[in-house]
Amino acid sequence: MNIFITRKFPDAGLQLLKDAGHTVTEHTEQRNLTQDELIATCKTQDALISIGPNKLNDTFFKACGNLKVVSLMSVGYDNLDVAAATKAKIPVSNTPDVLSKATADVAFLLMIAVSRKAFYLHQSIIDGDWDFYDPNANLGIELYNKTLGIFGLGKIGLEMAKKCKAAYGMDVIYHNRHQNAEAEEEIDAKYVSFDELLQQSDVLSVHANLSKETKGLFNKDAFSKMKPTSIFINTARGEEHNEADLLHALQNNIIWGAGLDVTNPEPMAKDNPLLFMPSVCVLPHIGSATVETRNAMAVMAAQNVIASLQGEKLPNIVNGEVYGE
Ligand code: DGY
Repeated sequence: MNIFITRKFPDAGLQLLKDAGHTVTEHTEQRNLTQDELIATCKTQDALISIGPNKLNDTFFKACGNLKVVSLMSVGYDNLDVAAATKAKIPVSNTPDVLSKATADVAFLLMIAVSRKAFYLHQSIIDGDWDFYDPNANLGIELYNKTLGIFGLGKIGLEMAKKCKAAYGMDVIYHNRHQNAEAEEEIDAKYVSFDELLQQSDVLSVHANLSKETKGLFNKDAFSKMKPTSIFINTARGEEHNEADLLHALQNNIIWGAGLDVTNPEPMAKDNPLLFMPSVCVLPHIGSATVETRNAMAVMAAQNVIASLQGEKLPNIVNGEVYGE
């Protein structure tokens, strides 16, 4: 069968597809495909492995009648119209779990880097600003025994919470759509309202999916309820915080610092004022970017396609409704 992949695919996954006898075409140019290009290509394909911000909407599914399966190489599926895929009877899969530890590592890294102004101070050496020892300069804040607030306590949030508890003895509070009894048991996490999360967190780390409910949720009103000493971390999706409101909160000492692995838009402009603030650290959406995790994601994405083209149920189905679930 013919499989199209919107990026150069890690070898571990590519080999599986070839060993299963499929013909693979990769989009190897260093740019995103336009939706017209994606549709023109996918019209004749049996399967799509989608990597990057490809809009998989009603127009796409209506135009690509030959497609039998879509496999996303990501855990997030905010670029997918689930209802449109289901209406077109196309099963779609994602790559959960395998990236939880790597993504939580980045949230943890950002938290520590922000608390010690690490990226800003690294840049100050490059700029020739390391002069003499001043006991009052370059001061960060400590994390020991502080309160970690997790917004979206699923697999990634749980990994972040475990690290923070083990390293800094942090208390964990969280806000979710539903209480997570397993996590409460495992790490003694306490469920709080959204307002309590904002008011009580010393570090507030966002791990929830992007949805109608979470889009723009961290806005001026939300930041105004946070502690002036607090750190805001987002490794989920940039659309969940309002960037102008975040900048305003940082510039006016409404919150202390921010660590972002996701921005809105991506890429972030190189002259964005957030990049020049002492207690802000920004990374270019690298949550799952380790050799081990990207290989695991590619293998999972390939296995999903292979299973589906063999007529089996997708192991990591996003829209179980296509199977009448
Ligand atoms: C994911 O897997 O959702 C990552 O954020 C990459 O988009």
